[in-house]
Amino acid sequence: MPRILTGIQSSGTPHLGNLLGAILPAIELSKHNESFFFIADFHALTTVKNKEILISNTIETAAAWIACGLNTKNGNILYRQSDIPQVTELMWYLNCITPYPMLANAHSFKDKSGRLSDVNAGLFTYPVLMAADIILYNAELVPVGKDQVQHIEMTRDIATKFNHNFGETFVIPETKLDSQNMIVPGTDGNKMSKSYNNVINIFAEENVLKKQIMNIVTDSKGLAEPKDPNNCNVFQIYKLIASKEETKKMEYNYINGGFGYGHAKKALLELTISKFKNERSKFFELIQSPEIIEKELFNGAEKAKKTANKVLEKVKKNLGLVRA
Ligand code: ADP
Ligand code: TRP
Repeated sequence: MPRILTGIQSSGTPHLGNLLGAILPAIELSKHNESFFFIADFHALTTVKNKEILISNTIETAAAWIACGLNTKNGNILYRQSDIPQVTELMWYLNCITPYPMLANAHSFKDKSGRLSDVNAGLFTYPVLMAADIILYNAELVPVGKDQVQHIEMTRDIATKFNHNFGETFVIPETKLDSQNMIVPGTDGNKMSKSYNNVINIFAEENVLKKQIMNIVTDSKGLAEPKDPNNCNVFQIYKLIASKEETKKMEYNYINGGFGYGHAKKALLELTISKFKNERSKFFELIQSPEIIEKELFNGAEKAKKTANKVLEKVKKNLGLVRA
């Protein structure tokens, strides 16, 4: 029973991409494995610079995990990254063995530094903190979306180098990609991401959700014309949550014409609301009681801390920071 671990930044409310690419597959895995799930609020600080926003993002991200069915009564834990600051201590040790070019060449850093106006050092060392997140807890399997695979590769390289230099210390983790290897497209056809402003926010009020779906970019084919489902963002998103029959029917509607993009968007909105009905109502209920969420996070941190302290003690011994 491998230990699984994954984190989601509290840089916004989890969207459809986070749900399908990370949260739901991780919860599925947690049913048969010991699981560590956390809210990466230290990572979120690289982009979020407002206290109230960070707090509400953290509560909403935790609520999303619980609303999607994470059961913390059977050995799984949910915690806030910053409740265990030992991770930043480990990050320093890892910084000192991480080659500069490895970070400078990371896809995610290149992408973010090209796009964001605030290119801070936290963005640069982001993968080292991520490595610390994983190896501080002896994680064996890390379920993530495709975009994070390089970060896990870097984690493996850093942990292997540490073990080689200082003696066996860390478990080397493996990536666990969702079977469909999916990258959920956003409303503009690029990867759905909080930082691209192209999300479908499963946990938004219905009017917001409607606006996001109605804003999905399509070509300008008229209602009567036949349409190509494989070249349409609405269909690409629809098929990720629809049943086989629903997908077939939608495909038929596209190909045969007489069915406008407005109809397709309406169908997507209805399907989203019905498919995530239970998760949405649980989420709205939970965010009304942040104390329940805080209690979950507190209990999770108490458990996670035990592993973190043990691993860190071994690290310090092996580095020569304390007497062996
Ligand atoms: P964002 O890009 O919106 O900031 P995060 O970086 O917080 O999202 O991602 C959290 C998790 O969700 C990661 O495991 C990531 O791979 C997954 N994820 C994010 N966006 C998508 C997407 N569009 N499709 C599939 N998985 C995604
Ligand atoms: N960087 C991840 C993301 O943006 C979030 C994250 C932080 C993470 N630490 C992690 C994911 C450790 C897996 C394991 O999606």
